[in-house]
Amino acid sequence: MIGKFKIGVLSTLTVVIFYEFYYGSLFDREPRLSVLRLKDKYFVYSCKRGMTCGGWGDRQKGIIALYLMANATNSKFRIQIEKPCDFTSAIQPKSFNWILNKNEFINKSSERRHILDRHGRALRDKLTKVNITEHFPRDVSYLTINSEFSHYIRQNKLYSQSLAWLKHLSMAEIFATIWRDIMTLSPELQKRYQQFVATRVAGKKLACAQIRIGPDPNNSDFNGEYRVITVAQTAQVWNLFQKYNDPDKYKIFLTTDNQEVRLKAKTLFPGVFIESDGPIGHVDKGPETEKTCHAFKKVILDQHILSTCDVLVTSWSGIGRHAAYVRGKESDLYCLLKDKDLRPCNFNSSLFQPSNW
Ligand SMILES: *[C@@H]1O[C@H](CO)[C@@H](O)[C@H](O)[C@H]1NC(C)=O
Ligand SMILES: *[C@@H]1O[C@H](CO)[C@@H](O)[C@H](O)[C@H]1NC(C)=O
Ligand SMILES: *[C@@H]1O[C@H](CO)[C@@H](O)[C@H](O)[C@H]1NC(C)=O
Ligand SMILES: *[C@@H]1O[C@H](CO)[C@@H](O)[C@H](O)[C@H]1NC(C)=O
Ligand SMILES: *[C@@H]1O[C@H](CO)[C@@H](O)[C@H](O)[C@H]1NC(C)=O
Ligand SMILES: [Mg+2]
Repeated sequence: MIGKFKIGVLSTLTVVIFYEFYYGSLFDREPRLSVLRLKDKYFVYSCKRGMTCGGWGDRQKGIIALYLMANATNSKFRIQIEKPCDFTSAIQPKSFNWILNKNEFINKSSERRHILDRHGRALRDKLTKVNITEHFPRDVSYLTINSEFSHYIRQNKLYSQSLAWLKHLSMAEIFATIWRDIMTLSPELQKRYQQFVATRVAGKKLACAQIRIGPDPNNSDFNGEYRVITVAQTAQVWNLFQKYNDPDKYKIFLTTDNQEVRLKAKTLFPGVFIESDGPIGHVDKGPETEKTCHAFKKVILDQHILSTCDVLVTSWSGIGRHAAYVRGKESDLYCLLKDKDLRPCNFNSSLFQPSNW
């Protein structure tokens, strides 16, 4: 009897510790819920199979936009990403649980709106003024958004109290604060990341490049993508990286949408080139297959690695930009843009992000 009781207590304790490890404290799992008494209203970032949502960088912008709408209105925030596969296989909740639980929504009114590109830009203009609850009156709003909202919603005087914390933060700080607070790698990606650090980074400094080309004649996922930079322009990155071509000190990490670029770096820097495992794919345009799911996990892992780099080259892409935000520092940051020379840049630079944001 006593033995059984002890095992029961021990295993309960193990569960509690395990749970706390992954989700933060068990007793304030939804701290904002208990402290602020959140309304029984939900903003859900939604990307279901078969929908157009945009790639990973686009989706991150949508997640932040929905988080801020929920935050402004004291509502609950959830994420539903099912395309190309379940998002929680790559990223899990940290400070509170944002996993969608359909049982919470029984008997609640809901609506779904697809607000991409110019529709998103029109909405963020509106959200500088309107009452968000009146604009989205249903109990549950499933929204697909791919625009940057933070600098618009923060202007809304109706929410000057709830969004006061944004007041002195830059766009980079807002993104990084939210991301670090609510996201953690899944156990699977955590393990892959640790193995990568132990066996491939192996104590060296990291010089990294995120090179987005756009189309790739050898990968139909990228058919019809607009050309971000030319393959020829990447020579400037390889020139910069010559000074890190020292296996005693550096590893050169590359993440790219393009096979030719990848193979070029691999041949130019045989002693220092490293990459993560997995296929290159487009998470929104690729087929909803196991392979695209692997590509999805790879892009999330690669972005996490980019956020830890000593030197970082970004091309025109949300993936590189958001990695740079989370990395935080603006030193040893370089930008490569179409028809421009590779240059040092910072978060204020129009080389880094559009000046009209
Ligand atoms: C809004 O976000 C800030 C910063 O993370 C947090 O301190 C605050 O509790 C949040 N409010 C709500 C209602 O979620
Ligand atoms: C939903 O509404 C039905 C009909 O009013 C009611 O019988 C049921 O108990 C409700 N369920 C929940 C979970 O509130
Ligand atoms: C927004 O509108 C709702 C419904 O009319 C109202 O209850 C709420 O107080 C308004 N919020 C603000 C911040 O004015
Ligand atoms: C890509 O395809 C072209 C032909 O379309 C071929 O010449 C080239 O070698 C391929 N490159 C790679 C990296 O597979
Ligand atoms: C970026 O701009 C902000 C506000 O205009 C300023 O406070 C900050 O110092 C600038 N940062 C850099 C690195 O130029
Ligand atoms: Mg895109």
